[in-house]
Amino acid sequence: MWRAIAALLAVIGSDAAPLQATSSGVKPFKIDLTGEASRMLELVKATRLPNKPVYPTVGASAGIDLDVLKQLQREWIHGFSWKGEQKELNKYHHFTTDLEGLNIHFIHERSRDPNAIPLLLLHGWPGSFLEFVPLIESLTQQSKTSNGDPVSFNIVIPSLPGFAFSTAPKENWTIADTARIFNSLMTDLLGYEKFAVHGTDWGSGVGYSMYEQFNSTVRALHAPFLPFFPLTEEQLEAANVTLSPMEQFQVQRGDDWYATGNGYFIEQSTKPNTIGLALEDNPVGQLAWIGEKMIEWSDPRAGTPPSVLNHQEILRSTALYFLTKSFTSSAFIYFQNPGGFRSDYVQPPTDAPLLFSSFKYNVGFWPAQMVRRVGNLVYYQSHEFGGHFPGIDNPPALLTDIREIGRFWA
Ligand SMILES: *[C@@H]1O[C@H](CO)[C@@H](O)[C@H](O)[C@H]1NC(C)=O
Ligand SMILES: *[C@@H]1O[C@H](CO)[C@@H](O)[C@H](O)[C@H]1NC(C)=O
Ligand SMILES: *[C@@H]1O[C@H](CO)[C@@H](O)[C@H](O)[C@H]1NC(C)=O
Repeated sequence: MWRAIAALLAVIGSDAAPLQATSSGVKPFKIDLTGEASRMLELVKATRLPNKPVYPTVGASAGIDLDVLKQLQREWIHGFSWKGEQKELNKYHHFTTDLEGLNIHFIHERSRDPNAIPLLLLHGWPGSFLEFVPLIESLTQQSKTSNGDPVSFNIVIPSLPGFAFSTAPKENWTIADTARIFNSLMTDLLGYEKFAVHGTDWGSGVGYSMYEQFNSTVRALHAPFLPFFPLTEEQLEAANVTLSPMEQFQVQRGDDWYATGNGYFIEQSTKPNTIGLALEDNPVGQLAWIGEKMIEWSDPRAGTPPSVLNHQEILRSTALYFLTKSFTSSAFIYFQNPGGFRSDYVQPPTDAPLLFSSFKYNVGFWPAQMVRRVGNLVYYQSHEFGGHFPGIDNPPALLTDIREIGRFWA
């Protein structure tokens, strides 16, 4: 009860801006890429795409559809303003800090609720901090879990090393190294004694590594994706996992993705410099490479409510990679983490709660029986709408599930 009263007083008693980190070594940061953005637009305009596809009947099965790419290019030229995007993004509190010699960028937004749970949100590839922007305000505001308990969050959204405004790490840097510096960011720099983590894609790899390495500070993990190879239909059968029709669909989608959608994975794991340098100064090339993934890995209804994964989102995500010159360095996360996905589903040395959200159109599927093997699973929820980027593909569902952390927070 005192929690609820204190929280209420905090909400009604404060019109001031939320407190921000004042820790030494943490510097406020504003995005300013307008100079580069005008050159980017010139390059987009100068790029000539073919008038018609070589094989019109293959559609998107052979890679990004030419008509879609041309439409995106037209929208980039006539209906997209980096300056406008930047202005929106600069409404949030951005910072940079030095961690083990890396300049790390992050957004830090504090709730007015003194009992707010510190929450670290981790993106993957081809994601960025942009994936979580639709959630920031709602997460910081006081709300309720499904039990009716009050819940709110202090939000920290870093850019992974080598992504956006965070510098590229040294040669053999792994996600376990990123886990270490992010634990230090939350505790030593920002002063949170314990915190929760949400991670997706490579961010779930970093988040899971934090979950197992730092069991006294990481006191909850929420994920829609896991750094474990999903089981095939045959393997699930052998493990006596029975599947609902929707789950059967999800297994099939994962198997299809593995058969036809992971060429990029092998390229970035083995020759990141080739694809990186080929596209580093080519915004429409990056649009084709990144846009294909954003379209293919999300719900076919993407861009219609509740999804905000529309063409503007694809354009600003690509522009962020291009303007921060991080396309090549970001691709290296695959090369640097050959062991990033594991086959052995075993319990890690932690008793912290694990919460999992399964989105129908994600490219990997993990049934509750398997998730339970890799952590203290306390919550598992399936969603019929959404895919690999739930922060933009189904933000209300992700928000509801993240808030459930409040039920298990001690
Ligand atoms: C990185 O790892 C490779 C393979 O193990 C090794 O050959 C190389 O010397 C390492 N580089 C650095 C800078 O440690
Ligand atoms: C699956 O179920 C069968 C029949 O109940 C049992 O013999 C087998 O050991 C089970 N397999 C696993 C991996 O649990
Ligand atoms: C937490 O990790 C330590 C090692 O750092 C280990 O000794 C301890 O058993 C772990 N706690 C749990 C609950 O697994």
